[in-house]
Amino acid sequence: NKKITIAIDGFSSTGKSTIAKLLAKKYNYIYVDTGAMYRAVTLFAKNNDFVSTDALNKEGLISNLNSISLSFQFNEDLGFAEMYLNGKNVEKEIRTLEVSQLVSKVAAISEVRKKLVAEQQEMGTAGGVVMDGRDIGTVVFPDADLKLFMTASADKRATRRYKELIDRGDKVNFEDILFNVQERDRIDSTREDSPLVKADDAIEFDNSDMGIEEQFERICALVDDKL
Ligand code: C5P
Repeated sequence: NKKITIAIDGFSSTGKSTIAKLLAKKYNYIYVDTGAMYRAVTLFAKNNDFVSTDALNKEGLISNLNSISLSFQFNEDLGFAEMYLNGKNVEKEIRTLEVSQLVSKVAAISEVRKKLVAEQQEMGTAGGVVMDGRDIGTVVFPDADLKLFMTASADKRATRRYKELIDRGDKVNFEDILFNVQERDRIDSTREDSPLVKADDAIEFDNSDMGIEEQFERICALVDDKL
């Protein structure tokens, strides 16, 4: 069997990572959550005072990008890799609403994208990778063997994200989550560098009313077709 490259893009909280993790497990591929990388850079900006209230000191962050070392380490118990920032596991810290409220601004910075895209391309050179994000099928792997583009209604997506955060014990309200999901999509879709758009050859999945299992089955059929 050949090892293909699978690119999954789409709006926030459309179940990209759920599908990506299931695919990685089934086909024994590496899963790369590129959103976690942008979130880790955002956490670095916060921890190093490049953020005050919600203003971002872009120049400060850009001149310190060399001090950011990102890596994924596989967690056997969880069955997927966790994000490490300068040697520290930041998996929990990068998923807060605070980081979500800032990440799209950080991700719009070309210097940040350049660094992360290079690292992502490096991780995918051998194939056998499923990567999710916003620009995987358009910029990171324009020649990916299979490209998926996920959508769902804003309400469904906010409901999912809300449940995730509440289950973790975070104190959040639904309106804030809904606003954040829509605001991130707006910034991600309208930024100049690598905006979120469906690649021409991507297959679109709207999962507003489709269960993950049904969707996963359909996607596996698409993968099997490529092997
Ligand atoms: O996937 P996730 O929702 O964790 O991504 C967080 C943010 O990171 C996105 O809203 C987007 O601003 C940015 N991102 C990006 N390009 C990617 C992955 C994520 O700009 N490939």
